[in-house]
Amino acid sequence: MASKAHGVPADSLTNPLCAQLGIRYPVFGLAHSIEVAAAISNAGGLGVYAAARDGPNELARKLADLRALCPDAPVGVDLLLPTALPGAATPEDLAAAIPDGHRQFVDGLFDRFNVPPATEGNFFSQYVRSQALFEEQITAVVESRMDVFAAGVGTPAESLARVRRAGKTTFALVGAVKHARKAIEAGVDVLVAQGYDAGGHTGNVGTFTLVPQIIAAAQGRPVLAAGGIGAGSQIAAALAMGAQGAWLGTVWLGSAEHRLPAALTDKLVAATSEDTVITRAHSGKPCRVVRSAFSDAWEAPDAPAPLDMPYQQALTGRLLAAVEQHEIAPLMYEAAGQSVAWVREVEPVAQIMDRLVRETRQSLGQLRSYLPA
Ligand SMILES: Cc1cc2nc3c(=O)[nH]c(=O)nc-3n(C[C@H](O)[C@H](O)[C@H](O)COP(=O)(O)O)c2cc1C
Repeated sequence: MASKAHGVPADSLTNPLCAQLGIRYPVFGLAHSIEVAAAISNAGGLGVYAAARDGPNELARKLADLRALCPDAPVGVDLLLPTALPGAATPEDLAAAIPDGHRQFVDGLFDRFNVPPATEGNFFSQYVRSQALFEEQITAVVESRMDVFAAGVGTPAESLARVRRAGKTTFALVGAVKHARKAIEAGVDVLVAQGYDAGGHTGNVGTFTLVPQIIAAAQGRPVLAAGGIGAGSQIAAALAMGAQGAWLGTVWLGSAEHRLPAALTDKLVAATSEDTVITRAHSGKPCRVVRSAFSDAWEAPDAPAPLDMPYQQALTGRLLAAVEQHEIAPLMYEAAGQSVAWVREVEPVAQIMDRLVRETRQSLGQLRSYLPA
């Protein structure tokens, strides 16, 4: 792993991985917003921009903008690279394969919630998740000035080798020991052990159970803990388990920089840990989201089974684009983990980071006080 010499002032939380990456705090944050990713990095953590919904040209521009927003701090980009998808396909190819019953079900949701059609396209109306698209996205990453690349789903060895040759530190999110083994074979530098509690695509092993097993399998590589983390006490617990940091997604949804529609923010602020569900209706793969009329509709007895990736998003893309554009509150949702309990108000990223760091220090101090001298 390439070492960065950013001359970051030392701090008691700056562990070896932080020093290697040139960051101050072992707090890693993923967000679908370059403003949020930059703010996390500027606050002393490492921000990672989730770019899976950017076409290649847009991605190159976004990464240049992200670099400009945090010129002096390390920052990263994340892509989803599932390997079992078509080599190449068009939105028309996918549309032709969607069963009529599924199409009628989605038309029914348009009618039931009075959703006007979308007048703006979205990622799913223009692109299909396919190996050809992933190659173009990887090229944009290779040519960017990102310090870190994270593979969210899948660890194709060739793509990771290209990114590593470009001098970037590679991370992979893993939800099971077998995924960690594959990531290690593919040459990944850092493993992110993401448990069942997490927002987004998730496996079925809880974070507390998963992290020690991934550390044991990591062959000395640094491991981060992810899934359900919203408080510094959990970051301290992750460090106590031997993780070199915590990777958080949901808490940043409550950041001012995210600028989510008000109805969605209200839903997230009101949600407790019990208000998230795992559904295949989002992407075709199990994904934890905040419960909404959309996830409820797919659970109803009359609902068809969600289609596999990439067909499910090709099916629901026009509905979800319209829901977003016209802000149809009941159907609005976002991926969210059980950590949504810590999204209590809208506050700047720097304030969230301050709280996490303060709480981590407090918990570590408390831990020391319990132990014999
Ligand atoms: C809104 C949202 C979107 C996410 N999108 C991605 C993604 O595109 N790529 C990825 O690797 N992980 C994604 N994740 C998962 C995060 O990387 C992270 O592992 C997870 O959020 C950790 O659990 P937490 O949500 O409880 O903090 C997403 C999570 C959320 C909440």
